[in-house]
This record gives sequence, C-alpha cells and structure tokens, in this order.
Amino acid sequence: MLNSEVVKNWRDPETKEKLILSENGSLTNMSGKEYEVNDGIPNLTKITDKGRNEYAISLFAKESGEYDDFHYLTYKLFKSNEDDVRNSIIDKLHIDGKKGIRVLELSAGTGRDSVLIKKRIAEGSEFHAQDISLDMLKVLKNKFESGQVIITQSNAEALPYPDHYFDAVYSYGGVGMSLYSDVKAQMKEIIRVTRPGAKVVIAGRGLAPWLYDTEFGRILIDYNKHYMNNLSLEDIPVEARNVNLSWILHGVVYCMEFEVGEGEPDADFDFDIPGKRGGTLRTRYYGKLEGVSPETKKLAQEAREKLDISMYEFLNQSIQKAARDILGGV
Ligand SMILES: C[S@@+](CC[C@H](N)C(=O)[O-])C[C@H]1O[C@@H](n2cnc3c(N)ncnc32)[C@H](O)[C@@H]1O
Repeated sequence: MLNSEVVKNWRDPETKEKLILSENGSLTNMSGKEYEVNDGIPNLTKITDKGRNEYAISLFAKESGEYDDFHYLTYKLFKSNEDDVRNSIIDKLHIDGKKGIRVLELSAGTGRDSVLIKKRIAEGSEFHAQDISLDMLKVLKNKFESGQVIITQSNAEALPYPDHYFDAVYSYGGVGMSLYSDVKAQMKEIIRVTRPGAKVVIAGRGLAPWLYDTEFGRILIDYNKHYMNNLSLEDIPVEARNVNLSWILHGVVYCMEFEVGEGEPDADFDFDIPGKRGGTLRTRYYGKLEGVSPETKKLAQEAREKLDISMYEFLNQSIQKAARDILGGV
C-alpha cells in the first residue's frame, strides 16, 4: 500500500511535477495522468530509448525467474565469493551507519545488492531502489519487509525523483551497460537527482579493453556478449570530481566512483602569467586577433622590450589606443 509520505518524493518522470495519491489509492500527476501500481510498485517508467529499453525489459522478463538460481555461476567462474565482491563495491559508497541520508540503488534487479546495502542503512535514513523490469523488482520486493526499501519501476534515463535528493547513488550491472541503456542519459539523471558533494558508485560487466585479444577474453565474449560492454570515458559527466576507475573480478567488471560537483571544474584563469608574453589564460584564449606581418611582429617585440612590459600589456594598450582614436573618445 502506497502512503503519502513516500509519494511526496516521487516525480512525474517526464515533467518532474509532484504526484498525487488519492483516497482510492490511485496515483496521478497534476494533470490527472494516472500511473498503474502493480503489487505495491508504481510504474513511473518513461521509455526514452525504445530499442534499448524494450530489449532490457524483455531480456530481464525472461531472466527474472532464474536469475537468483544461476547468478552464483558468474562468481564461481572467477573463483570468487559473490557477497565479498558486492560488499567491496558497496564499501566505496561510505554510507555505513550514516544517519538521515538518502541512498538510491539504480537497476537493482532482484535485489542481490539491495539486501547487502540495507544492512548498512542507519535508522532514519531512506533506501530507494529502482529498475525498469517489474519482473525483477517483484523478486526484490519479496526479500524485504514493508517499508525497508522504497521501490519504483522506472527508467534510469528518466528518473522519478526530485533534483538533488540523494546523498549516495549506487548501481551494479545496470548503469553503464551500453548494450541495453543510454549511458549519457543515465549519467545526466544521476547528476540531477544527486546533491553536490554526494558519492556515486557505478560498476558493471565489461572486460578491460587490454584483455579483448586474449584467450580469456575471447572465451568470455563467446559465452556472453555483455562482456564486450565498453564503458566510454566520454560518458562520464563533467560534474564528476575525483573520479576513480578500476577493473575488478579478474578484469571483467569496471568499477567507477566519483563525487558530484557543480558544472565544469573550476580554475583561476585570470592571474597574470609572469614573463615576456604576459596576459592570463583567459586573455590568451578569448583575446586572439588576426596575425600580423613578420615586420610588424618584429617592431612590436622591439617596442615591448623598450617599454619593459609584457607583450600582452603592449598589445592591449596599443590596440585599445588605436581603436579609441579611430572610434573617437569611446
Ligand atoms: C544484469 S542485471 C543487474 C541487476 C542487479 N543490479 C544485480 O547486480 O544483480 C541489469 C538490470 O538492469 C536493469 N535495467 C536495464 N536497463 C535499465 C534502465 N534503463 N533503467 C533501469 N533499469 C534498467 C534490468 O532490468 C536488470 O534488472
């Protein structure tokens, strides 16, 4: 059963407007558009990339029934313990025992990480999980008691949450999987729903590129084309700060962590650069004019030297003076 405390922090995935829970239990947006609720899970999915989103939904509808029965094989293959690997990725979120925080797990699937994350969520903190596949989420939901995790069926490329809501965002095996999702769109949404300063951890299947041309790589790719997934560095959002990228599990899982910043990184482009050339990085970038003849350049260099000022100061003063003379007292 949905309650208004939970619904108040969901948004229409398209317009990002608030949703309304009516007394008869239906969920609508301000314009009256109704959202279905299946098994207590609201369907707030906006399909953004028909081909890939529908491929994911049908693939995981088929896999959901046996996902938990066979998933251990991946870790047996790499002679590893699944929970140890998953916990080592979750460790990077640094959420243990933190009170009053909001944690989001994207593409949570059947909840194999969710149960481990839940153990680290302190009282008074919120734990949200989402996935585009209702079939996978039904399995997840059965692993929890009511109220332990707040679930939406939704698309990571159009999330139904408010701006800057979460303090930590996690995904393993969903975000970054370009074979069935639009990674740039996912990253954009992650930045939107995460508060500046918050931590993001994203891991997924993708053979380290230097292993493509090995027997190890060829056997794995032959077995499952998802090993060919290649996390493109250009998909990392400009807001990402202190990015750490590693490959774990014998080089078959990428693991990226970063803190969320605001806009592009900041630098002081305005300090005077010492030396003959002078100017600042900003004047050098934005102040470019046409070139001059070699004779004029030589004259300018001699004049600059005589005045004992930088070339930036000489050009700035000379060109300003010439322009003002022509324009007449500007
Ligand atoms: C390989 S499973 C991983 C599930 C889980 N995180 C785990 O580690 O077992 C990939 C999951 O990504 C989900 N998924 C794929 N595209 C998605 C999208 N655009 N938005 C949300 N979830 C998506 C699938 O439905 C599936 O549950």
